[in-house]
Amino acid sequence: MLPLILLSLQLANSLLPVSAVDNGLARTPPLGWNSWNRFQCDISEETILSAANSLVSTGLKDIGYEYVIIDDCWHADSRDPETNEPLPNPDTFPSGIKSLSDQIHSLGLKFGIYSDAGLYTCARRFGSLGYEEIDAKTYASWGVDYLKYDNCFNEGLSGNTSISYSRYTVVTMLAPKYRLTLERYEKMAKALNATGRPIVYAMCNWGEDHSWTWAGELANSWRMSGDIGDLFTGYHPWCPCTSLENCTNFGARCSVTRILDWAADIVPYSDPGGWADLDMLEVGNGNMTKDEYITHFSMWALVKSPLILGNDLANMSKDTLEIISNKEILAVNQDPLGIAASRVWQVSVEEGGDIQLWIGPLEHGATVVAVVNTSPTNATVSVPWTDILPYELTSEQPVHVFDLWQRADDAQWGLYLGSLGSSFSFSSTMKLRSHETKVYRLVPQASHAEGDQFRVQA
Ligand code: GLA
Repeated sequence: MLPLILLSLQLANSLLPVSAVDNGLARTPPLGWNSWNRFQCDISEETILSAANSLVSTGLKDIGYEYVIIDDCWHADSRDPETNEPLPNPDTFPSGIKSLSDQIHSLGLKFGIYSDAGLYTCARRFGSLGYEEIDAKTYASWGVDYLKYDNCFNEGLSGNTSISYSRYTVVTMLAPKYRLTLERYEKMAKALNATGRPIVYAMCNWGEDHSWTWAGELANSWRMSGDIGDLFTGYHPWCPCTSLENCTNFGARCSVTRILDWAADIVPYSDPGGWADLDMLEVGNGNMTKDEYITHFSMWALVKSPLILGNDLANMSKDTLEIISNKEILAVNQDPLGIAASRVWQVSVEEGGDIQLWIGPLEHGATVVAVVNTSPTNATVSVPWTDILPYELTSEQPVHVFDLWQRADDAQWGLYLGSLGSSFSFSSTMKLRSHETKVYRLVPQASHAEGDQFRVQA
């Protein structure tokens, strides 16, 4: 019997994914900019350099945005016919990718590129399936620091979404076909590691095969749904997901509130080094209101999604810059504990939508609290003190309450000195406009007395 057990254990072990992403990177969610949401295939080296220069001139680089990522469509029509190396489009990237990457590095930024674990990318350029090693080597020689790795045209090399990959189940051992997705992504993870260059690995398989249960072993981040659209709520027919369980295909225009709903169940799988990616930001692309963009940005930050800007940085409004420059919100996203906030409750509103309470632990015993109104009406909300107790707030301890969107000066601080058990609202008239989110940082007074350590220094 014992040999049989040992054999099974060995078999199980041989099926475990290696910790291919053990690269020490992305200990906090990556911050940067990507070309896709705003420019799609209409890109050139000027587009990318302009974004890089804007990150510097607007001060966004100084507050942490560091990756400049070219998405799909940088490619030539085909690979080098002799070496099979990937080549860039000679018309739009005439100086070559290495030169572009050098210029981005000389600005003190990092450089990212895109490929696909399939025959073609989603925009039908050549993919990396079967070319993982040569591509990883070429990217390393170009000075790539971040790879977004997509899932189109994967030749059916994916598993069955109804059975998740689980490292510990017999199902996995008996049904290797459920490992097909994992194997495709693992190949590139290993190829990247073999280059010896630190390259953040951003997996983009839209949540296929319950990837949140295993992607953290392979990748620094993992997309969990179809593509985001510049819309706040609703059910656009192009969004391929009807639920988290059925959210696996290529598709677009998923709304912010739907992605957030799915994320609520899976962000607990995030960890330093492996983050659920709710998709790139739409802030500044024009189709949402300021309150909606604030909700989008706040909640992506609270659940520790990578914050990858997706707007035209060279032409943005004051409001857009103000939202994406909110250092207190960025500090929540970059908090060293790396624990995603969780949704504590969600109460439906008669007119549609809901009110949601999200809470997450931060370092030094602080807590972040968000109250979200996804409904079409204004709402008055009072949050019982007991709802936010599970985290570090202890009995009878004074707590500073800081509103992260009303941060003009310290007069905005409130001090709560009440005892526990009573009903507490941050303000007796806490009113939320339709689609507004309020975010608070609660800091036990003792921590506060030690200094403003929870506030990001400029
Ligand atoms: C997929 C990805 C997007 C983008 C496009 C490019 O849809 O999910 O984020 O990279 O491909 O074609």
